[in-house]
Amino acid sequence: MPLVTGGTASYVNVDHAASTPALQAVADRVAEVLPLYASVHRGAGYASVVCTAAYEAARVAVATFVGARADDVVQVVRNTTDALNLLATAVPGEVVHLDAEHHANLLPWQARGARAVAARPTLAATLGALEAELARRPAALLAVTGASNVTGELLPLDVLAALAHRHGARIAVDGAQLVPHRRVDLAALGVDYLAFSGHKLYAPYGAGVLVGRRDWLDAAPPYLAGGGAVRRVTVGRTTWAATPARHEAGTPNVVGAVALAAACEALAALPAGALARREEALRDRLVDGLAGIDGIRTLAIWPGEAEAIGLVTFVVDEYPAELVAQYLSAERGIGVRDGRFCAHPLLDRLHGGATAVRASLGIGSTATDVDRLLAALRALVTEGPTWSYDDEGLPSPDPRALPAWASADVVRRRCG
Ligand code: ALA
Repeated sequence: MPLVTGGTASYVNVDHAASTPALQAVADRVAEVLPLYASVHRGAGYASVVCTAAYEAARVAVATFVGARADDVVQVVRNTTDALNLLATAVPGEVVHLDAEHHANLLPWQARGARAVAARPTLAATLGALEAELARRPAALLAVTGASNVTGELLPLDVLAALAHRHGARIAVDGAQLVPHRRVDLAALGVDYLAFSGHKLYAPYGAGVLVGRRDWLDAAPPYLAGGGAVRRVTVGRTTWAATPARHEAGTPNVVGAVALAAACEALAALPAGALARREEALRDRLVDGLAGIDGIRTLAIWPGEAEAIGLVTFVVDEYPAELVAQYLSAERGIGVRDGRFCAHPLLDRLHGGATAVRASLGIGSTATDVDRLLAALRALVTEGPTWSYDDEGLPSPDPRALPAWASADVVRRRCG
């Protein structure tokens, strides 16, 4: 990566929670598929037959990876946001969720007047508050995150599933952060729906999934009206197909689905628990290192209580988050995310609505990455930045050239 100070540094990617690069196995599979790329469910040619089979096989690979029940459906969508918006069209009743959710698992429910439960200072009290809300008035669905995209904290999904079912509700899990870090078994956990994104699971080719119970989705109106979702159309009337075709109108993203399946297969082939064990050691190194730097604080919903994935959000007392993130990139070649992480209510609770910095580990992260991040933060706190930054925290000037194919005037539109 080019540095503002001249020269280059090898990239330290600690922004996996936002998006991940492709695994080599995924890129290889995509390269294999592209010469045969053709229409899905529509063509008689050999390439179409191959692509149709690959697309349908991708559903099976995803279902196997997440331990889906035999009668669950795998809907191929764009990402977690799309998956939960689809589910929101199908829930036949009220929805309860925590206020700690990221926007993908908040706005689709907010739009239908869902009941938000405030997270309490302890996990046990939070579970109690959810139970009380479901007991107070029935709901059709409890929607929770599997792992917070702000703190990495994991929720006890088996406990939550039992709690929801006790009160006649189903449970949907936002697995955007969970699935890339921990094996999930829907049947064993009792989870009814799971949404996750390929772009956070080392398959950044535009596909995500909603996996779960078929009946609500079969009864829901088609998510998109169009070809592929129908049984028969006359000028005045349409008979819609059952799931999954019902919600996948238009030519589907076969490359995205195949890539996602390849990622699922690659992760499934890892020895049981290896990914979590390796990541826990790196997370401990990161958390301990941050704790040893004066003027840095980490954020948590339930401090010291919940297990967490390799993701830590922190604030540097002396510098705005924007400047910290820009400094790490511009002077050190380190990629983090700063902002409110599309989880504004949670940042309101944890940090008075101000912005913070997030470091998130992935399958390729190393102890050297963690150490480089810690060294850069120590240098910032003790010596300050060596470059100048404008009022928005952007390096000024910024001499780093972009590749020719990305050289349009950059609009620095940043998702909050
Ligand atoms: N994609 C968002 C993140 O970075 C929500 O966490």
